[in-house]
Amino acid sequence: MTTIATDRIARKLTGRIGAEIAGVDVSAELDADTIDFLNRALLEHKALVFRGAPLSKEQQERFAAHLGDLTTAHPTLAAEAGAPRVLPVDSERGVANHWHTDVTFVRSPPKVTTLVSKVVPPYGGETLIANTAAAYRDLPEPLRQLADSLWAIHTNDYDYAQPEEALDQRARENRAQFTSLTYRTAHPVVRVHPETGEKGLFLGGFVQRIVGLSAGESRDIVRLLQSYVTRPENVLRVAWEPDQLVVFDNRVTQHYAIDNYDGRPRRLNRVTVAGDVPVGSTGERSRVLEGDSSHYTPSS
Ligand SMILES: [Fe+2]
Repeated sequence: MTTIATDRIARKLTGRIGAEIAGVDVSAELDADTIDFLNRALLEHKALVFRGAPLSKEQQERFAAHLGDLTTAHPTLAAEAGAPRVLPVDSERGVANHWHTDVTFVRSPPKVTTLVSKVVPPYGGETLIANTAAAYRDLPEPLRQLADSLWAIHTNDYDYAQPEEALDQRARENRAQFTSLTYRTAHPVVRVHPETGEKGLFLGGFVQRIVGLSAGESRDIVRLLQSYVTRPENVLRVAWEPDQLVVFDNRVTQHYAIDNYDGRPRRLNRVTVAGDVPVGSTGERSRVLEGDSSHYTPSS
């Protein structure tokens, strides 16, 4: 347990990832001390859970803005009406039951993702969040060296698990919207965290292939490395309650929304904080291959 002040507490949820924060009124304007406490807690625990946080869209934007400049809602998906920085994460628009880091198909993916629960299904609908730095540390040395040397192409027009013909009309429309602009970016497979210096595996569902390898070789290597990310020891399971705020460091995590709620309504609001350009083990920075994301993030 980390106690910075008598009233603010970060209580660890698992050994490797996650803390529940108490004693911070996230709906209020935060002072510099509290922001510093939250930033340090986020760097240490990677994912923070706040209960009893019924944030409006405006309050969520204000909270997230304490952690840095905001992105717009998404490079291609529509924002919430009247709130250009709020992305509705709605089971009606599709499900994200694949491991991913948010928006890695652009050069500067978000630094932080914030989610506020609006409609919670009566059962299921949990979000899994994995610590990718712990995954990197778990790799045997020869695999760490291999990962350090690899680069991956990330795209929003990736090979979907569900083929086009298996989709209903609505899902087909959603996919068409998601891929209405094509982005392709080369990122290092191992990213050095800009604040902690920790190395983490930087992969996830938008990876199309590993640079220099065939599609089949890429799949095998990614599967092997991903198996370390998704080890249960590296994963926090967030069971959503109404009015819950969850914040994760998108530079050093992957997440997965479990599709286990029988199509019941599930709705979260997402606001993301802009990130910087990833840097690999050799100091090399990510490169845009296709797509302009300047309307999405200030550091495109
Ligand atoms: Fe996501």
